[in-house]
Amino acid sequence: LRIAVLFGGRSAEHDVSVLSATNVMHALEPSKYDAVPVFITREGRWLLSSFEGGALAKPSSGTEVCLVPGGQGRMMAIPADGAPYELPKVEILFPVLHGLHGEDGAVQGLAEVARVPLAGCGILGSATALDKDIAKRLLNEAGLPSARSVTIHQGSAPAFAELQGALGLPLFIKPARQGSSVGVSKVSAEKEYETALAEGFKHDRKLLAEEFIRGREIECSVLEDTEGGLFVSRPGEIVPAESHGFYSYDAKYIDEHGAALKVPAELPEEIEGSIRAMAARAFRAVGCDGMARVDFFVTPDRTLINELNTIPGFTDISMYSKAMAASGVGYSEIIDRLVAHGLA
Ligand code: DAL
Ligand code: MG
Repeated sequence: LRIAVLFGGRSAEHDVSVLSATNVMHALEPSKYDAVPVFITREGRWLLSSFEGGALAKPSSGTEVCLVPGGQGRMMAIPADGAPYELPKVEILFPVLHGLHGEDGAVQGLAEVARVPLAGCGILGSATALDKDIAKRLLNEAGLPSARSVTIHQGSAPAFAELQGALGLPLFIKPARQGSSVGVSKVSAEKEYETALAEGFKHDRKLLAEEFIRGREIECSVLEDTEGGLFVSRPGEIVPAESHGFYSYDAKYIDEHGAALKVPAELPEEIEGSIRAMAARAFRAVGCDGMARVDFFVTPDRTLINELNTIPGFTDISMYSKAMAASGVGYSEIIDRLVAHGLA
């Protein structure tokens, strides 16, 4: 099966995507898959990559590729010098892209236009899940609690006192459409507010001010089967190191001691049951299909949904795969099931 693996991309999570995709390439058994890696540069150009010696090539120039609209997998190669030629037909597209322009429905729409099957979540769920403002409204409408928040549009940020009154302190300022905690600041006093807004607006025109939840970070993997049934994994827990304060980008990817994953999370049976049921409801409420990781805050008296990630970090030590493994589904099996779902 010819599978195009898209990686890199224009979002701030470019480097995370390279890690995720490298693991995917390792797991694609050559007897089953003919994988064609496509590197998307930070500027958004699609370039033919290769996977050699365990590493994905990240060319800065070379052969550009494109999918033919309506071509059912026809893929053209356009060399920097030389005549364009046609590559073997792609049978499924697997975007391993995090954040904007990849996890947000854009590439999913392209798959639809090109009439190529897609591994993972489709257009609607991708777009709604990536926008924390929209996702929260859908969750709340379905009776699924999330942290209180105020949406801030560029040019009309509320006075600090207003946010403090609504959300208490400390509070978080975060871009509405960004992952891996990029652009997120913790604000404990008014003097930090302006800087936090400026940092957030570097990444998005829409921000969320969110109340601080002192709780455990618990995450569940959801994988849809070909019949539309949902497999919900056992929950795992993110245990951030004291020094990091919250599960920041650095804690996630830079500092190897930044956080530990505890899978399965130690939770009373009935709490685990209710979290898994909430994960499935959240997946549906936000309009997801295929795959998502559903993230929670669990306090002694409440379980809140933090967010959904439709293309979660996808290395073999990422929570998505660890939680699936703890539930009996190995890494290659996840990919096989995602592909089967996409082809169904
Ligand atoms: N956005 C990152 C990749 C995650 O949620 O895993
Ligand atoms: Mg995220």
